[in-house]
Amino acid sequence: MHNKRYPKVNYIGNKEKLADWICDYFPKDAESVFDAFCGGSSIGYEAKKRGFRVLSNDVLKINYFLAKSLIQNKTQTLDANDLEILFSSKPFKGFMYKNYGEVFFFKEECMELDLYRKNIEKLSCEYKKTIAFTLIRRAMIRKMPYSRFNLNWDKIKQLRDEEYSYEKYKRKRAYHNESFKSHFLQNLDAYNAAVFDNAKENIAYNEDVFELLPKLHADVIYLDPPYTGTMNNYHGFYSLVDEYIASKKLKPFDNNFREKKSALELFDKLFSNLSNYKYWFLSYNNNSYPSKEDLIEIISKYSKNIQVIEKPHNYQITGKDKKSTNTEYLFIVKNENYKAL
Ligand SMILES: C[S@@+](CC[C@H](N)C(=O)[O-])C[C@H]1O[C@@H](n2cnc3c(N)ncnc32)[C@H](O)[C@@H]1O
Repeated sequence: MHNKRYPKVNYIGNKEKLADWICDYFPKDAESVFDAFCGGSSIGYEAKKRGFRVLSNDVLKINYFLAKSLIQNKTQTLDANDLEILFSSKPFKGFMYKNYGEVFFFKEECMELDLYRKNIEKLSCEYKKTIAFTLIRRAMIRKMPYSRFNLNWDKIKQLRDEEYSYEKYKRKRAYHNESFKSHFLQNLDAYNAAVFDNAKENIAYNEDVFELLPKLHADVIYLDPPYTGTMNNYHGFYSLVDEYIASKKLKPFDNNFREKKSALELFDKLFSNLSNYKYWFLSYNNNSYPSKEDLIEIISKYSKNIQVIEKPHNYQITGKDKKSTNTEYLFIVKNENYKAL
């Protein structure tokens, strides 16, 4: 077991607090884990620490960059020379300024982002670039009220007003007004220190899960799809960062588990595609759709060996001060039709 610390990522719906509980159930005969909806990579990171060969995937580019930096990357970190490259020269009016000035950030802040975006290209290797993007992401999240990019500008300005925030919530939340650079530097050591080699060839992917499932093999597949019927608009939350990376506007991705009317079909499609995986692990909860019973019915079409473990778990809902109380489910399925390669 590697003694490493997962850095502060702050991913909506993350499994950071459940990672030990989930990974403790991974079977003794398993050597590889495919984290197919990796999000902020909390499970992939824990599995990497435990010595598994980890495959990671997410449809969002920034999550792929996180996985590339923390899961696939073995040695590369950012040093003083890289920082000089990143923070040199003058802010200018680029993609962020033109499209998102006074939409998510102030105009001057957008110009800074445009400068960092350009400078990242000058870094000497892919891993350094992905780490830089993950640190810019962290800075963008810290400056954004509720840590998600689907608020309107009036609300953002109001919540970034420290006097208002203090009056209303008794917290100034001054970190929203600290610079990107300051947040970047505050998190740099933790992200650098989180890079390690577990002596396995870990790989990150950036595809729609349905494209990838038939192409890969692993002992365990861990499935943590968006929970249908909950706050789960991942395109809305985070695609701004993907647009920053691509320097262009992007359409929402398909197969997103948002709509109740297509959820049953998507789950069926998911389980019908898992023949390359010996054990299937699915996270879900009691406040989402479909129900535990419906999921068992779908899964049992493909394997009858199903166990459901339950645990009380509170998710902090961003933007609300109260927490919601849930029972978290972990479905553990042994694939009865699995044939080793
Ligand atoms: C509940 S989150 C995963 C959280 C993650 N386990 C963690 O600890 O941070 C679900 C993820 O599924 C991704 N996703 C949704 N639909 C997808 C699809 N069709 N293919 C690949 N990834 C998808 C979303 O981008 C989101 O990051």
